Amino acid sequence: MKNKSGKSLYERLIVKFGLGKKKRKLPGIEQIYPDDVFICSYPKSGNTWLRIIVAKILYPNREIHLGNIDEFVHGLFSAQDRINSKFENRIIKSHYPYFESYPKTIYIYRDYRDVLISYYHYKKSLGEFSGDLSEFIRDNEQLEIPYGGWAKHLSIARQQKESNPNSILLIKYEDLHLHPKECIKEIASFLGLPQPKRLDDIISESSFNHLKNLETSLGSEFKKRTQKHFFRKGITNDWKSEFSKEDIDWLQEQHEIMSVLLDSGYAI
Ligand code: A3P
Repeated sequence: MKNKSGKSLYERLIVKFGLGKKKRKLPGIEQIYPDDVFICSYPKSGNTWLRIIVAKILYPNREIHLGNIDEFVHGLFSAQDRINSKFENRIIKSHYPYFESYPKTIYIYRDYRDVLISYYHYKKSLGEFSGDLSEFIRDNEQLEIPYGGWAKHLSIARQQKESNPNSILLIKYEDLHLHPKECIKEIASFLGLPQPKRLDDIISESSFNHLKNLETSLGSEFKKRTQKHFFRKGITNDWKSEFSKEDIDWLQEQHEIMSVLLDSGYAI
């Protein structure tokens, strides 16, 4: 996809995000080490689910939940001190699409239409947005700051896969629902780990219901602040019943988004 200047989307994003600069300073991180692994996504794409799966592959006997996940897969901002005091074995959660600077990335993506609904409820619960869903999906400031929009985010990840396939593993949220065993095996291989022995336990202990029950019994920062669960619905194709016809028609006209949805295997 080229614009008037003849530059591809990726070339334009390189300029926008400053990718490709050798010693780029990453937000929140003092230094990148060659064995660092990044767990990355556009917001509300299933990042927490993926983090918990990765942590369960590494620590199958530990109870892992929203309240302690930062110990295992460190949030860029929520576990900044932990990240910067370690020199090896770091697995870091980041929403920034700086894949060229990340030695290894596991990237999770989800149907944008479901991302929008999830993000809307999340921001609404936190008091960060006060309009309705129709307003939210049209609000570029809410959706593009500070990580770039969804279509660009996923396009950069796909481009990284093309140019350096061994550096990034792409996982589709909907595939994790449909084929969790295959996805978990892929994740373990990508991390250079032996195949996990207790796949069924990893699946059940990272399942939506299990994590939501733990959030109910143990609480969470999110629940404390909002009186709502972080684990809201955890389903696919929610958009089909949540959006009005006008919203669906409007989304159909967002060509860049539709083109990335189509290229990523979603029916439009
Ligand atoms: P919903 O708001 O649609 O329920 P992130 O972790 O990237 O912020 O994404 C949060 C979304 O992933 C929420 O979506 C959340 O419920 C969903 N999610 C978290 N854990 C999940 C799991 N184990 N299975 C399915 N969906 C999960």
